[in-house]
Amino acid sequence: PFVLILVAALAYLLGSVPFGIVMARAFGLGDLRKIGSGNIGATNVLRTGSKPAAFLTLVGDAGKGGAAVLIARALLGEDAAQVAGVFAFLGHCFPVYLGFKGGKGVATFLGTLIALSVPLGAAACLTWLAAAAAFRISSLAALIAAAAAPLWALWLRPEAWIFAAALAVLIFWRHAPNIRRIRTGQEPRIGSK
Ligand code: G3P
Repeated sequence: PFVLILVAALAYLLGSVPFGIVMARAFGLGDLRKIGSGNIGATNVLRTGSKPAAFLTLVGDAGKGGAAVLIARALLGEDAAQVAGVFAFLGHCFPVYLGFKGGKGVATFLGTLIALSVPLGAAACLTWLAAAAAFRISSLAALIAAAAAPLWALWLRPEAWIFAAALAVLIFWRHAPNIRRIRTGQEPRIGSK
Protein backbone atom coordinates (compact mmCIF):
# COMPACT_ATOMS: atom_id res chain seq x y z
CA PRO A 1 0.00 0.00 0.00
CA PHE A 2 2.82 2.42 0.81
CA VAL A 3 4.36 1.85 -2.62
CA LEU A 4 0.95 2.33 -4.21
CA ILE A 5 0.49 5.67 -2.42
CA LEU A 6 3.95 6.67 -3.62
CA VAL A 7 3.10 5.69 -7.21
CA ALA A 8 -0.19 7.63 -7.00
CA ALA A 9 1.62 10.71 -5.68
CA LEU A 10 4.27 10.54 -8.41
CA ALA A 11 1.58 10.02 -11.07
CA TYR A 12 -0.24 13.08 -9.74
CA LEU A 13 2.94 15.19 -9.91
CA LEU A 14 3.67 13.95 -13.43
CA GLY A 15 0.07 14.63 -14.51
CA SER A 16 0.34 18.11 -13.03
CA VAL A 17 2.95 19.19 -15.61
CA PRO A 18 0.95 21.60 -17.81
CA PHE A 19 2.44 21.05 -21.26
CA GLY A 20 0.15 23.70 -22.78
CA ILE A 21 1.58 26.38 -20.51
CA VAL A 22 5.12 25.06 -21.06
CA MET A 23 4.77 25.00 -24.87
CA ALA A 24 3.01 28.36 -25.09
CA ARG A 25 5.89 29.87 -23.14
CA ALA A 26 8.56 27.97 -25.11
CA PHE A 27 7.04 29.16 -28.41
CA GLY A 28 6.63 32.72 -27.13
CA LEU A 29 2.84 32.63 -27.44
CA GLY A 30 2.11 34.33 -24.12
CA ASP A 31 -0.05 33.24 -21.22
CA LEU A 32 -2.43 30.56 -22.43
CA ARG A 33 -4.89 31.34 -19.67
CA LYS A 34 -5.51 34.76 -21.24
CA ILE A 35 -6.17 33.34 -24.72
CA GLY A 36 -9.35 31.80 -26.17
CA SER A 37 -11.15 29.62 -23.64
CA GLY A 38 -8.35 30.16 -21.12
CA ASN A 39 -7.91 26.40 -20.93
CA ILE A 40 -4.42 24.87 -20.76
CA GLY A 41 -5.03 22.14 -23.35
CA ALA A 42 -3.91 21.52 -26.92
CA THR A 43 -7.19 22.86 -28.35
CA ASN A 44 -6.53 26.25 -26.81
CA VAL A 45 -2.87 26.22 -27.84
CA LEU A 46 -4.13 25.70 -31.41
CA ARG A 47 -6.07 28.98 -31.07
CA THR A 48 -2.74 30.80 -30.85
CA GLY A 49 -2.17 29.66 -34.44
CA SER A 50 0.83 27.44 -33.65
CA LYS A 51 0.17 23.91 -34.84
CA PRO A 52 3.57 22.60 -33.63
CA ALA A 53 2.97 23.96 -30.13
CA ALA A 54 -0.53 22.43 -30.10
CA PHE A 55 0.78 19.11 -31.35
CA LEU A 56 3.54 19.01 -28.73
CA THR A 57 1.00 19.88 -26.03
CA LEU A 58 -1.19 17.00 -27.17
CA VAL A 59 1.79 14.61 -27.18
CA GLY A 60 3.02 15.84 -23.78
CA ASP A 61 -0.36 15.76 -22.03
CA ALA A 62 -1.23 12.35 -23.49
CA GLY A 63 2.32 11.08 -22.93
CA LYS A 64 2.37 11.92 -19.23
CA GLY A 65 -0.85 9.92 -18.71
CA GLY A 66 0.52 7.02 -20.72
CA ALA A 67 3.88 7.14 -18.96
CA ALA A 68 2.24 7.07 -15.51
CA VAL A 69 0.27 3.96 -16.48
CA LEU A 70 3.25 2.16 -18.02
CA ILE A 71 5.62 2.93 -15.14
CA ALA A 72 3.08 1.82 -12.53
CA ARG A 73 2.33 -1.36 -14.46
CA ALA A 74 6.03 -2.21 -14.73
CA LEU A 75 6.54 -1.66 -10.99
CA LEU A 76 3.31 -3.00 -9.48
CA GLY A 77 0.99 -4.50 -12.08
CA GLU A 78 -2.38 -3.81 -13.64
CA ASP A 79 -4.37 -2.40 -10.69
CA ALA A 80 -1.62 0.07 -9.91
CA ALA A 81 -1.57 1.07 -13.58
CA GLN A 82 -5.21 2.16 -13.33
CA VAL A 83 -4.60 3.99 -10.07
CA ALA A 84 -1.68 5.83 -11.66
CA GLY A 85 -3.86 6.71 -14.66
CA VAL A 86 -6.52 8.22 -12.39
CA PHE A 87 -3.94 10.26 -10.47
CA ALA A 88 -2.17 11.51 -13.61
CA PHE A 89 -5.59 12.62 -14.91
CA LEU A 90 -6.36 14.35 -11.59
CA GLY A 91 -2.95 16.00 -11.76
CA HIS A 92 -3.79 17.47 -15.16
CA CYS A 93 -7.21 18.72 -14.00
CA PHE A 94 -6.02 19.99 -10.60
CA PRO A 95 -2.28 20.70 -10.94
CA VAL A 96 -0.36 21.62 -7.84
CA TYR A 97 1.87 23.90 -9.94
CA LEU A 98 -1.07 26.07 -11.10
CA GLY A 99 -2.93 26.50 -7.83
CA PHE A 100 -5.06 23.42 -8.68
CA LYS A 101 -6.64 25.24 -11.68
CA GLY A 102 -5.94 22.89 -14.54
CA GLY A 103 -7.35 21.44 -17.71
CA LYS A 104 -10.18 19.23 -18.86
CA GLY A 105 -8.26 15.98 -19.09
CA VAL A 106 -9.06 14.88 -22.63
CA ALA A 107 -5.52 14.29 -23.95
CA THR A 108 -4.37 12.80 -20.65
CA PHE A 109 -7.40 10.47 -20.63
CA LEU A 110 -6.61 9.30 -24.17
CA GLY A 111 -2.97 8.73 -23.19
CA THR A 112 -3.95 6.56 -20.22
CA LEU A 113 -6.35 4.55 -22.39
CA ILE A 114 -3.69 3.87 -25.03
CA ALA A 115 -1.33 2.65 -22.31
CA LEU A 116 -4.01 0.52 -20.62
CA SER A 117 -5.03 -1.08 -23.92
CA VAL A 118 -3.93 -0.11 -27.41
CA PRO A 119 -7.22 -1.23 -29.04
CA LEU A 120 -9.27 0.70 -26.46
CA GLY A 121 -7.09 3.80 -26.80
CA ALA A 122 -7.24 3.59 -30.58
CA ALA A 123 -11.04 3.25 -30.51
CA ALA A 124 -11.35 6.31 -28.25
CA CYS A 125 -8.97 8.36 -30.43
CA LEU A 126 -10.79 7.34 -33.61
CA THR A 127 -14.10 8.29 -31.99
CA TRP A 128 -12.66 11.74 -31.19
CA LEU A 129 -11.35 12.13 -34.75
CA ALA A 130 -14.63 11.02 -36.35
CA ALA A 131 -16.67 13.36 -34.13
CA ALA A 132 -14.24 16.23 -34.75
CA ALA A 133 -14.45 15.64 -38.50
CA ALA A 134 -18.25 15.59 -38.33
CA PHE A 135 -18.85 18.58 -36.04
CA ARG A 136 -15.58 20.58 -36.12
CA ILE A 137 -15.91 21.27 -32.39
CA SER A 138 -13.11 19.97 -30.15
CA SER A 139 -15.09 19.91 -26.90
CA LEU A 140 -18.03 18.11 -28.51
CA ALA A 141 -15.66 15.53 -29.97
CA ALA A 142 -14.16 15.08 -26.50
CA LEU A 143 -17.60 14.59 -24.91
CA ILE A 144 -18.59 12.03 -27.54
CA ALA A 145 -15.27 10.17 -27.20
CA ALA A 146 -15.53 10.23 -23.39
CA ALA A 147 -19.10 8.91 -23.46
CA ALA A 148 -18.10 6.18 -25.90
CA ALA A 149 -14.95 5.14 -24.00
CA PRO A 150 -16.63 2.98 -21.30
CA LEU A 151 -18.71 1.30 -24.00
CA TRP A 152 -15.60 0.57 -26.07
CA ALA A 153 -13.99 -0.72 -22.86
CA LEU A 154 -16.84 -3.16 -22.19
CA TRP A 155 -16.07 -4.68 -25.55
CA LEU A 156 -12.29 -4.32 -25.86
CA ARG A 157 -11.01 -4.21 -22.26
CA PRO A 158 -13.74 -5.02 -19.71
CA GLU A 159 -11.43 -4.61 -16.70
CA ALA A 160 -11.01 -0.93 -17.64
CA TRP A 161 -14.65 0.06 -18.06
CA ILE A 162 -15.10 1.53 -14.57
CA PHE A 163 -11.86 3.48 -15.05
CA ALA A 164 -13.15 4.81 -18.37
CA ALA A 165 -16.61 5.60 -16.97
CA ALA A 166 -15.26 7.43 -13.92
CA LEU A 167 -12.91 9.60 -15.96
CA ALA A 168 -15.63 10.24 -18.54
CA VAL A 169 -17.86 11.64 -15.77
CA LEU A 170 -15.05 13.96 -14.68
CA ILE A 171 -14.50 15.06 -18.28
CA PHE A 172 -18.19 15.97 -18.61
CA TRP A 173 -18.00 17.92 -15.36
CA ARG A 174 -14.85 19.79 -16.50
CA HIS A 175 -16.62 20.68 -19.78
CA ALA A 176 -19.60 22.38 -18.11
CA PRO A 177 -18.81 25.78 -19.71
CA ASN A 178 -18.29 24.10 -23.09
CA ILE A 179 -21.60 22.25 -22.79
CA ARG A 180 -23.34 25.57 -22.12
CA ARG A 181 -21.71 27.12 -25.19
CA ILE A 182 -22.54 24.09 -27.36
CA ARG A 183 -26.20 24.35 -26.33
CA THR A 184 -26.34 28.05 -27.20
CA GLY A 185 -24.40 27.59 -30.44
CA GLN A 186 -21.49 29.67 -29.20
CA GLU A 187 -18.76 27.05 -29.03
CA PRO A 188 -16.00 27.94 -31.50
CA ARG A 189 -15.16 25.53 -34.28
CA ILE A 190 -11.75 24.01 -34.83
CA GLY A 191 -9.74 26.40 -36.97
CA SER A 192 -11.46 29.59 -35.75
CA LYS A 193 -9.58 31.74 -33.28
O1 G3P B 1 -9.49 19.25 -24.43
C1 G3P B 1 -10.29 20.29 -24.06
C2 G3P B 1 -11.28 20.51 -25.17
O2 G3P B 1 -12.21 19.47 -25.17
C3 G3P B 1 -11.95 21.82 -25.05
O3 G3P B 1 -10.99 22.86 -24.94
O4 G3P B 1 -10.22 25.19 -25.03
O5 G3P B 1 -12.28 24.50 -26.30
O6 G3P B 1 -12.35 24.62 -23.81
P1 G3P B 1 -11.48 24.36 -25.01
